[in-house]
Amino acid sequence: MCLFSLVMLKLKHCLADPVAMWHVKDEIAPAVLLVVDFGGWYRLDSKSSNCSSSEMIQHTQVSVIKDVIVPYTHLLPTLHLSENQKRHNLLYFKGAKHRHRGGLVREKLWDLLINEPGVIMEEGFPNATGREQSIQGMRTSEFCLHPAGDTPTSCRLFDAIQSLCIPVIVSDNIELPFEGMVDYTEFSVFVAVGDALKPSWLVNHIQSFSKQQKDMFRQNMARAQPMFVYDNGHPGGIGPVPLDGAVNNIWKKVHQKLPIIKEAIIREKRKPPGVLVPRRCQCT
Ligand SMILES: *[C@@H]1O[C@H](CO)[C@@H](O)[C@H](O)[C@H]1NC(C)=O
Ligand SMILES: *[C@@H]1O[C@H](CO)[C@@H](O)[C@H](O)[C@H]1NC(C)=O
Repeated sequence: MCLFSLVMLKLKHCLADPVAMWHVKDEIAPAVLLVVDFGGWYRLDSKSSNCSSSEMIQHTQVSVIKDVIVPYTHLLPTLHLSENQKRHNLLYFKGAKHRHRGGLVREKLWDLLINEPGVIMEEGFPNATGREQSIQGMRTSEFCLHPAGDTPTSCRLFDAIQSLCIPVIVSDNIELPFEGMVDYTEFSVFVAVGDALKPSWLVNHIQSFSKQQKDMFRQNMARAQPMFVYDNGHPGGIGPVPLDGAVNNIWKKVHQKLPIIKEAIIREKRKPPGVLVPRRCQCT
């Protein structure tokens, strides 16, 4: 078993399909996988919280224990706290209204929010106009909506962080990078899907945050910004990796996983011949 090899999955391709590697999952599964989310893998194995055998993640497959969740590359430029200006919109979202798989929430939210005052819901274009719209929208809004799309995460969240727009994460089970190294509740609002879909609930909820609370969120977010940046600021990326940047944090996470992986290897080695490794239920 090549448990120590490292596989980098679509780190740079924000728009690529997260299940693109699905067909080779068995071959690469024993490695420590760097995944942007477990959308197409973990969910498939744990969609029901019943621990029957088909819902269990196999020892060798993707798991939150063995694998490392990495941030998407942000596409928008970083706004520093000192450059932050008064934000006159409450909530911003840009993206496609219609999404397959799990995107129903987005469509319902869209209909609920589109006519709320202070809320901007924009259909986006993947061109320069769309990018300018996003920069404008994320820098002039207090909150940025992050609904469950067809994957639990997307570059939108990391663009919001770089734009100092407080993420409103509508998801019951999102997996986020560098958990344990960063506390997302210090700068994000987490909302259960059920609550978000109650009429007016979401807008009332985010309106209830005071200016002080929002300022605090933004200060905390400014401190977290460098964690999600891959770019080291050198032409062509050639040069030292910043200590507090995404690349170094990925290595720190891999380092944190090593004792557990070593344990698994030891257990694997001592099992008598012909015995199957028991499956580990990950249905949480
Ligand atoms: C859980 O799985 C078992 C065995 O596959 C099955 O008999 C049972 O009905 C399932 N329960 C639920 C709540 O899905
Ligand atoms: C981007 O796409 C939209 C819709 O197709 C179009 O109206 C706009 O002019 C485009 N912008 C650029 C810079 O190409």
